[in-house]
Amino acid sequence: MTIAEVVTIDGPTASGKGTVAHKVADALGYHLLDSGSLYRLVALASERAGVDIADVETLTDVAAKLDVKFGPDRVWLCGEEVSLAIRAEAIGNRASALAVHQPVRDALTQLQRNFRKLPGLVADGRDMGTVIFPDARLKVFLTASVEARARRRYKQLIDKGISASIEDLLRDLEARDLRDRSRAAAPLRPAEDARLLDTSDMTVEQAVAQVLAWHRELGAMPGGR
Ligand code: DC
Repeated sequence: MTIAEVVTIDGPTASGKGTVAHKVADALGYHLLDSGSLYRLVALASERAGVDIADVETLTDVAAKLDVKFGPDRVWLCGEEVSLAIRAEAIGNRASALAVHQPVRDALTQLQRNFRKLPGLVADGRDMGTVIFPDARLKVFLTASVEARARRRYKQLIDKGISASIEDLLRDLEARDLRDRSRAAAPLRPAEDARLLDTSDMTVEQAVAQVLAWHRELGAMPGGR
């Protein structure tokens, strides 16, 4: 059996990893896993059910029983499309808060690994290269200055018709980064074998081109198609 190749793209909030992962997956014809969306779905489902952010047992149960369906650029929770609802900043912050709990993370592990299918997978998140796919063939860690990331997030939200303030975004990004980096469970950090890419002064196209160049350098998958 041929095991599908994985390319991981990890990095902090609004580093551009979502957009870069999407374009790299398109260019390679690979599947895409936006792992942050799973944490956001748990955040939305648990908020709707009135679950306290410190109630680890119930949060874990929500994660384990997540009734979710993915389509190209769309996601459904219990049959309702929530693609836009999970992008709200409040849901991102709640996702970051519940992602500190190891049992919640464990409940999502297999679901994430199930995305690994031929011809290959591009997985974006915080711990794709360190925990979920440690054997990934190419691991990329995207960074960008907090100002560049706040500007990007601001533009993303305004483009989607969601109101935002740069100052609030900067504060939220710093708080979320600190929590994602300093948590005990699967903290945000580059895998030892990850390639670092600082995109502060790069366009999306330049970042995508660099990842594809690294991918080409690796050559064909040994024993692969
Ligand atoms: O990438 P994002 O902003 O959609 O992720 C939302 C939150 O989910 C993020 O702040 C931390 C958590 N997360 C995580 O802990 N591990 C992942 N692989 C992806 C996201």
